[in-house]
Formats: sequence, structure tokens, C-alpha cells
Amino acid sequence: MTREEWLRISAALSLGGLLPNNLLAELATSSELHRSDFGKDFVWGTATAAYQIEGAWNLDGKSESIWDHFTHHRKAKIKTRENGDVACDFYHRYESDIELMRQMNIPAFRFSLAWTRILPDGTGKVNQKGIDFYHRVIDKCLKENVAPWITCYHWDLPQILEDKGGWANRDSIRWFEEYVDVIAKAYGDKVKNWMVFNEPMAFVPLGYLIGVHAPGHINFSKFYKAVHNVVMCHGAGGRIIRNNVKGANIGTTFSCSHVDAKNDKPANTRAAARADAFINRLFLDPVMGLGYPKADLPACKHIEKHMQPGDEQLMAFDFDFVGLQNYSRMVVKKLALIPIIHVVNVPPKKLGHDITDMGWEVYPEGIYHLLKKYNSYKNIRKIIVTENGAAFPDEVVNGEVNDVKRLQFIKDYLAQVLRAKREGVKVDGYFIWSFMDNFEWAEGYRPRFGIVHTDFATQKRTIKASGKWFSEFLKNQ
Ligand code: FCB
Repeated sequence: MTREEWLRISAALSLGGLLPNNLLAELATSSELHRSDFGKDFVWGTATAAYQIEGAWNLDGKSESIWDHFTHHRKAKIKTRENGDVACDFYHRYESDIELMRQMNIPAFRFSLAWTRILPDGTGKVNQKGIDFYHRVIDKCLKENVAPWITCYHWDLPQILEDKGGWANRDSIRWFEEYVDVIAKAYGDKVKNWMVFNEPMAFVPLGYLIGVHAPGHINFSKFYKAVHNVVMCHGAGGRIIRNNVKGANIGTTFSCSHVDAKNDKPANTRAAARADAFINRLFLDPVMGLGYPKADLPACKHIEKHMQPGDEQLMAFDFDFVGLQNYSRMVVKKLALIPIIHVVNVPPKKLGHDITDMGWEVYPEGIYHLLKKYNSYKNIRKIIVTENGAAFPDEVVNGEVNDVKRLQFIKDYLAQVLRAKREGVKVDGYFIWSFMDNFEWAEGYRPRFGIVHTDFATQKRTIKASGKWFSEFLKNQ
């Protein structure tokens, strides 16, 4: 890829960068929400990821992951030049953090496992200390009555496997199967809720196409290969969990953004369909048994080149639920010179809505449209919102964090989830990203997504106003 091409595609796909420039949101304009409105089986929780919270990057036999490597050796790729070496120190503080979840009435905790703790060589020898750590975390959850929801992979591939080509190497399917087999066997008796991947549409293009996330490649060929291998791993991982965990509730998660065309010019309508196929359907469609969305995204032919006989069937898996992860929306217009998608985003700040600290547009109706869209897939049995939330700059004043914008964001998005549910959409859960402020990848520690504030110098946790609201909401069944 030329530098020119890279600049164009990263500008088109990049979501971050803009600072907030809006006024404080009005508090609680929408009518009050009640937990009971969502039904008694609705799952409520908060979400995290290993690299973003654990720290202890080289303790107890853990090896280097691509994120350790990226933050240590390609520092300029992280806006603040920070890393996850310590993060929220969850590795040492998991007990008090899980106790805090219980105190806040949070019924479920979504977290990921670090492959590098379990299999430091990527495959082969199992590291008992790594296995033991997650047993302690899970046991603590069960003791506090907080249901553990495990994500097998949230972006932290062992560096040793990246050195062999990472997700662009077809052997990654075999490596991943081995890893999932080990964890499903280790924890399957205690944990019933499993997610295979976190957001393939983030880690594959950001890591292999535009190079802003680990492992930092800017390479079309690696990207196309990695897409197909990761698609294959959805089916592979799902089947291994099914075979090993009795009574498992198996899902996987996809990032998605509602896409609008800038106007109704036919070229822009087609551009929106292409962007939608790329952003929302590239992984979801094949995993749902529909193949790659090539009618709307001709570039799929470069991916299909890597398919082998029998792959079509193996890509699909009958998931019990699909995790929908949404933050923002995209408004696009045609721009032929952008590779693959031939579209460009209208800058969110031009859309007239509030903007978060990530530069993302606040657009609650987006989640409603996405829920309706997912609901129309006949192979989606159940939808769980496995991530939703917002970064806004927070301030601790007299021991309190009055995060009115985040609170409003959560209420407004939840109101749209309820609207969809009332219209018959089979949505059955909602996890806030995130339990506590943590390491936000290439953005460093600056964007704060937590409903609990983390003071990274002292590791003190402070429940924000949004967290207090959530615990009250959860208390009143
Ligand atoms: C999602 C990621 C999660 C976090 C949030 C803000 O795309 O899954 O780890 O970074 O965005």
C-alpha cells in the first residue's frame, strides 16, 4: 500500500481524534427507565478486556502479547506514549473490584482472558499460574454472585504467533482452536457464558490494514488473509466451546455503526451500502451462513481468493446469541479514491450532535436501527448489547465525579434499546463499556469510559454519578 493510499483509508476509517466541543447535556430529559421494563431475564453487566485492565504484563509466566510489543516498541503509535504494563492493576485488585461490582448490584461481568497467560508460547505448554489466575477471578465472581461472561479473545495475540504471521497465517485457525480448547476445558464447569471474539471489524483492519493498532501492519494482502482466518475461527471456536462446555450460552461480538448516506444521490446511497457491508457485515454475514457480502462490496473477491474447499460451511456457526457493540453512527458519501470501500465519512462534528471524547457522534437512534437490522437476520437467535458507552472528560471534585454527559448517554441509548425490545426485537441484555476507566488502546489513558473512575496514580476507584445511577436502577427490579 502506498503512503498516499494509507492516508486516505485511515482518514476514511479513523474514528478518533476530535475533542469535545459541546455544551453539557441536559440531565434526564427522557422519561425514567426501570429495570423491570426490560423483563426479568434481561442480562445486565459491565464489560472490560484483559489488556485494558490487568497490568502485570510479564508476571507469573505471562509472555509478551502484540499489545505489549506494540506499546513498548512502537511508542509513537500511542497518542500519549503510554502502555498497559500496569493499567488498572486488576491482576492484583480483582477481589476488591469484583466486590465493588457486587456492591453496585451489577449482575454480570464481561472480561477477556489473556492468551499469553494461558499459553505463553502461543501453543503447547500450558502455564498453570495463568490458569489459576482466572480460576481465582471466576471463583470470586461466583462468590459475589456476579456472573462471569468470558471473551476468549480481545485483541492480545501472543507476539510469538504474530512473529509467525499472526492472523494472516492460516495456521492461526489451529492455534486458536488449541487455545479455546484449553480454556473451555479449564473453566467450562464454572462458566456458562462465552464469547469467541471481540470486534473482528476493529482488530483486523486497525491491526493489518491501517496499522493504528497492534500489530501495526499496513498491508492489503495480510488484511484479506486475516479477515478470512478470523471468520473461520468464529466457527472453529464456537464448535470447541459447544463440545466442551455443557449447557453453554455461546456468542461472539461485532462492532457496528448505523450508516446513513449524506444525501439521496444514488452514488451516495450505494456508497452507504458499501460502507455498511464493510463496517457491519463483512464478518457477521459469513458467520451467519450468508457468505461474504460481495454484492454490496466487490472487494470481497480478494478475501474469497483465500477460501479453501469446505470453508463455506465451516465459517458459519449456530451461536446462541450475537453481541452487538455500538457507540456511534457513520454518515458517508462516495469518494472513489478511497481503497476498498470508496467512501469517506462526513466529520462527526459537522453533524450537529454532541461529540464524545473519542470524536464520536452521540446518536442514540443508531442502536435502535442496528437492533432492528440484526433482528432481521434469520440465524440470529438472540441479541445482547455487549458494549455501549461513552468517553467524556471527568473531574473528581470533592471525591465525586458528576459525569452528567455519560449518564445521559447511557439513558438515551437504553431508551432506544427498550424501544426496539417493545417492538419485538429479541434483545436480551446490555453491558456498559466500561466498568472502570482503563487503557484505551492507541488513545492511551486519556479517554475515560468507566462508570467507576480510576485514579491511575493511586489506583483509587470512585463510583461516578453514572455508576450510582446504574446501581440504583439495578436495585429496583
Ligand atoms: C471497543 C472495544 C473496547 C473499547 C471500546 C471503547 O471497540 O471493544 O475494547 O476500546 O471500543
